[in-house]
Amino acid sequence: MFKHIIILIATVVVSAFAHHLNGAPHVASARLKGGDVDGNITFTQLDDNKVRVQGTIIGLTPGQYGFHVHEKGDLSNGCASTGAHYNPENQPHGHPDDKERHVGDLGNVEFDANNIATIDFVDSVLSLEGDHNIIGRAVVLHERADDFGRTNHPDSRKTGNAGGRVACGVIGIQSGV
Ligand code: CU
Ligand code: ZN
Repeated sequence: MFKHIIILIATVVVSAFAHHLNGAPHVASARLKGGDVDGNITFTQLDDNKVRVQGTIIGLTPGQYGFHVHEKGDLSNGCASTGAHYNPENQPHGHPDDKERHVGDLGNVEFDANNIATIDFVDSVLSLEGDHNIIGRAVVLHERADDFGRTNHPDSRKTGNAGGRVACGVIGIQSGV
């Protein structure tokens, strides 16, 4: 019995230490702001190389709005200085489920009749570590729906033709460093 407890404690200590050595942040978050829009988005690294994206945003009329991770966490000129969609693999713009997409392509968020968007999905391309690390970059909400690169508009395969940037925020480490 006593031996088992010792082993259990040793296992917990070793795994906690191993994780610490690994240095992987577990949770990141961003405060999304712009005009009347205000929100908070949390990114949680799951064990199976996926990231759960959760949050609430208020302030837009009912409908779909493009939602991306942009390459820079630079708000010196507002959302305009966050650069293009985060695209380390040099792919065309797409739908989150497409094979060809920007790492930052998170599709649309939907605002309801109370002007609230409730977000909860899992993405298998984003990461809080390694080659697709989004920490220090920005989340951006747009004025229109993202068309996922599926229309003939000249911006469709670049930005989803989602229009101007309504709100944004820098993604920072929240816990698990
Ligand atoms: Cu965008
Ligand atoms: Zn894109």
